[in-house]
Order: sequence, then C-alpha cells, then structure tokens
Amino acid sequence: MCGIVGYVGKKSAQDVLINGLRRLEYRGYDSAGIATLDDDNEAHLARSVGKIAELSKVLAKDPQTGHLGIGHTRWATHGGVTEANAHPHHVGRIYLVHNGIIENYKELKEKLSNYEFASDTDTEVLAALIDSNYNDGTSLKDAVAKALKRVRGTYGIAVFSPNEPGTVIVARLGSPLIIGLGKGETLIASDASALLGYTREAIYLNDGELAVCTKDGAEVFSLSLRHLDSKPETIEGDVEQIQKGGYKHFLLKEIMEQASALHNTLSGRIDTETGKMHLGGPNLTAKELQKIHHIVIVGCGTAYYAGLLASYYMEQLVPDLTTEVVIASEYRYRSFHLPKDSVALIVSQSGETADTLACLREIKKRGTKVLGIVNVVGSTIARECDGGTYVHAGPEISVASTKAFTAQVVAMLMFGGMLAEYHGGDPKLIAEYTQELSILPREIEKVLNDHHDAIKKIAKKYAKYDDALYLGRDTAYPIALEGALKLKEISYIHAEGYASGELKHGPIALIDDHFFEVFTILDNWLFDKSCGGLHEVRARGGKTIILTNSERDIEADDIVRIKSPVKLLAPILLNTLQQLLAYYIAVERGNDVDQPRNLAKSVTVE
Ligand code: G6P
Repeated sequence: MCGIVGYVGKKSAQDVLINGLRRLEYRGYDSAGIATLDDDNEAHLARSVGKIAELSKVLAKDPQTGHLGIGHTRWATHGGVTEANAHPHHVGRIYLVHNGIIENYKELKEKLSNYEFASDTDTEVLAALIDSNYNDGTSLKDAVAKALKRVRGTYGIAVFSPNEPGTVIVARLGSPLIIGLGKGETLIASDASALLGYTREAIYLNDGELAVCTKDGAEVFSLSLRHLDSKPETIEGDVEQIQKGGYKHFLLKEIMEQASALHNTLSGRIDTETGKMHLGGPNLTAKELQKIHHIVIVGCGTAYYAGLLASYYMEQLVPDLTTEVVIASEYRYRSFHLPKDSVALIVSQSGETADTLACLREIKKRGTKVLGIVNVVGSTIARECDGGTYVHAGPEISVASTKAFTAQVVAMLMFGGMLAEYHGGDPKLIAEYTQELSILPREIEKVLNDHHDAIKKIAKKYAKYDDALYLGRDTAYPIALEGALKLKEISYIHAEGYASGELKHGPIALIDDHFFEVFTILDNWLFDKSCGGLHEVRARGGKTIILTNSERDIEADDIVRIKSPVKLLAPILLNTLQQLLAYYIAVERGNDVDQPRNLAKSVTVE
C-alpha cells in the first residue's frame, strides 16, 4: 500500500527520494510524488498518476535541486486516482505525505472553512489542520503535535515547511515509520527496504510518537511533547536481496529461491540426530508449553491459508491440541472467547496488516499470549507480540506471496513439533517430520527444476480460460485454496478453491468445458476419495490438471507427477508448482505479475 520516504542531508533529495520510492513500488500504488526544499528555501512539488517512471519524466523536465524532501506512493482510499489526490499535499506553509486514514476528516474539513481544498483526500485536510495550528511563535513540531491530537484514525506522516528549513517532522499511529540514521544525513521510510544501502542504524517509531529529523539525527517525543529516549536498532538485509538477480520478475525469483529461504527458516531449529524441533523465539518455559491445549491462528490472505495447512500438521503432532484458524478481518469484530490454555499465532509476512494487528491487540486485551509468525524484522506485529518466530524468508517484493507461505507453514509446524514433545506426541512421528523438514529445501529445488518446463507448457494451454476450480482433500485442501488465490491475484482468472468433498454441494453445478480444474492429489489413505471428484468433473466436460506425488493410475488431461521421499510435506512441494502455474499463466496473459492491478503487498488500512 502507500509508501513514505524522506530525506535530509547533503545528497540530492530528488535522487534519494526516487530511489526510495522505487524500492517501495512492490507494495502496490497508483500515483506518486515528491516535494523538496531547495537551498533558497523554496519548495518544489511534482506528482503524477501511474508508475514512478511517469514521475521521473516530470522531474526530468523540471529537476529539483534541494537536499531535503519527502516522497510518497499512493494507493487510493479517499478520492480517485488523480494528480490532485496524489501526495505530497501542499496547504499554506505545509508539505505533507501520509499513510493511513483520517476517519474524522469530514468533521475537521467543515471546521477548516477558511481553506480551499484542491483534492478529495483526508490527507489534505490534515495538512490544513497542521497549517491552522502553525501560528507565530509555534514550531512545526508543536503544530504537528497539536493537530494530531484532534485526529481520529491512523497515520504515518512526514511533514516539512519552508519556514523551518533543515527539519522534517514525522509521526506514527498505526502505520509504520522508520528513521534511518546516516553520517550527516537522515532518511525516513515506511518500510526498511528503502533504507538499505544508506544505513543500517534506525529508530523504529512507536505509535503515538513524533520525531524531529535533521541531518544530524532525530529526537523523539510523545504527542504531549515529552522527550523520549530512543534506542537505534540494526536493519537486516542487503540491497541484493531486493533486486531481481537476473530473473524477469520478482515473483519468479521468489518462487525459485524458496529452497534457500527455507534453509534460513530451518537453520538451527531442527536436529535430525535427536529427531526434534526447537524454536527459541516463543520464549515459553516447559510448564507454559505443557499448559497449551488450544491455538488460535490469525491471518489474512495467504498467511491465513498457511495457518490452515499448519493447523492440520499441528493437530497430527500434538494429541491433545485443538486449533482454530481465523480470518483477521472477521475475528477482530467477533465476541470471541479464548480458553485459559490458549495461545495465539499471529501470521503475517509484512507484520503490518491492519486487520491482523487489530486481532493481535484484541487477543492481548483478553490476556492470551500472542506469538508472531512474521517475516519482516522489526515490523509492528513482531514488536507487539509477546514472542514468536521470524520466518527469515528474506524480503518478499512481489505482491503475491510465495516463499513467505512456505516459510510460515514450516515455522508453525516447528512450533507444533516442539509442543508435541511436551504433550506426549509420538516421537516417531516428530522425528519423521523433522527428517522431512531437513530435506525439504533440497526437494523443493528439485521439484521446481524438474517440472518447470511441464508447468510452462500447461500454462500456455490454459491461459485463455476464464474460470478455474482448485480441489484438494485433507492437507491438500489449504493448498487448493492457496492455489486458487494465487491464480486470481496475478492472472485475473476467476478461480475458486474447494475441499474435494464439497464438490457435490455446489461447485459441480458450474462445471462445463469453460472450466479447468486443478486437483492436488496426495498418495495417502484418501487417494481413492480424492480421485472420486475427478471422475465427476471429467464426466461433465471440465478439463483437469493433476498435481500429485502418486504413481498410481489417474485419468486426466494433464498430469505432473513428482517423485520425492517427502510425503507428509508433499502439499508444500506441490504448492510450489501451483505458484509456477499461476506465474506462467499471468505472463502468458501479459499481466503485471509483480504488481497486479488493485492489490497491495501490505494492507495497512482496513
Ligand atoms: C495482501 C497481500 C497478500 C498477503 C496478505 C496478508 O493481501 O497481497 O499477498 O497474503 O495481504 O499479508 P501479510 O503481510 O499479513 O502476510
């Protein structure tokens, strides 16, 4: 979603801002802009609809020369996609970029009747509110703090004024803001990836905090302007990780690098000699682990499906465990009750998803321990959890989530494996899972390489279809849901995921020769039942693609058979092929696979 960058230092602000905005492109956006202050204290503003390349064209005609500025990529919430609605907004003496939503903006707008508004945005109202508080004798910092006290909603903001050269004020409530501390320069970003290559030292602002940034660093305050101590932290990752590395798209790179990502997820957490798994991050004593009999897993989109698959595994491993997997946007408003012996797993790649974060807070309020299954180090969810596990999948840039899914499932599975030790879990089964985990990276790599061309060919054949149905049973069911989500996200083909056993309860009515069906069939005790649905679909003219680890006879239009010693975790292997299938279908249809229309990587508003 929206992205913020800011700079104050010696370099060309325009260059640093544009570079930063490019790093944030992956989050999804529909317009962009920058504002800078030149050495004569004159402000310059450039905005454009569309990609950063469009903004660069505007700047090529009229370059900005200053060493201080702010920039933004906007994902429209209030008001259409127009240049006037793009950020930064300029009102009076204020230049402002904003992520989040000002809920009471209409009420505030009515009170600011002496201002003329050029856009339909809530952000412009906030800029006017700050300007109206910026009176003789007040500093910009005071004006921002005063204005924010009257605001209801969420924000991450960066503000400057030609009246106070050399200073950028930032603040956050519910939308991330990170201050990078360099030598003689200070950078601002809503996402640490924009800071990589400039500095490794950063202050992560907390909710309700405001900071005054100059080239010499940053001072942090509460909204009541009490000075706060702030401890700089180290940013992880490097610039190579956020580049395409020879691949045409980030999505393909991220699918193909799942083996190495998983290697990092597993590193130091499994031991094939003892057959055990261990996670340090949850920070739970043996007694606390023994007490857990109920786990609620919370997530959105792909993270939710990762939770669903992990719940099957955890229930197999831990004999006396009940799991509940919930969609964050629903759960946050339910009158839910959690038993005393519960813990919550909060699953999020970005660690910033608004609904997931809201659930975390609701669950915490009820006194239940919350553990994060998070990829982005230092993200809000990771910081607010009582403990948890970083999945260490590395930066995921493409909007559609792939390697994070695999890493999330594995991280939760390891939590289950650890829990099983304290709940009389079958040591043989735990060891079997541990063994499969240890070879999973290698097997993923093999499957992706061995079947790449076959999937490409199938993708070509089905790219023109308008509808798809993904079916699976047991641990292949969450995979069916995830496969359908991946396809719709990037190919825009209407796709649904269903439990095979539900076929007769509705979806079969849809089947005709306009549909293709992807069946994930596992070579287990449910094999015959899984194939039952297949016959019914074929009898009605549906075209069938089978992804399986079985060597048994199956009739279908297209079959991809994998051979692997990995059995329990075969759904994870087969899912990587679904990812490839969605990718190549989207490429075939000429779509923007890394930044699909209307989608955002990190959904930081409700
Ligand atoms: C968005 C993204 C998805 C992601 C979901 C949850 O919808 O486009 O790829 O699965 O948010 O995001 P999170 O960062 O919380 O895992």
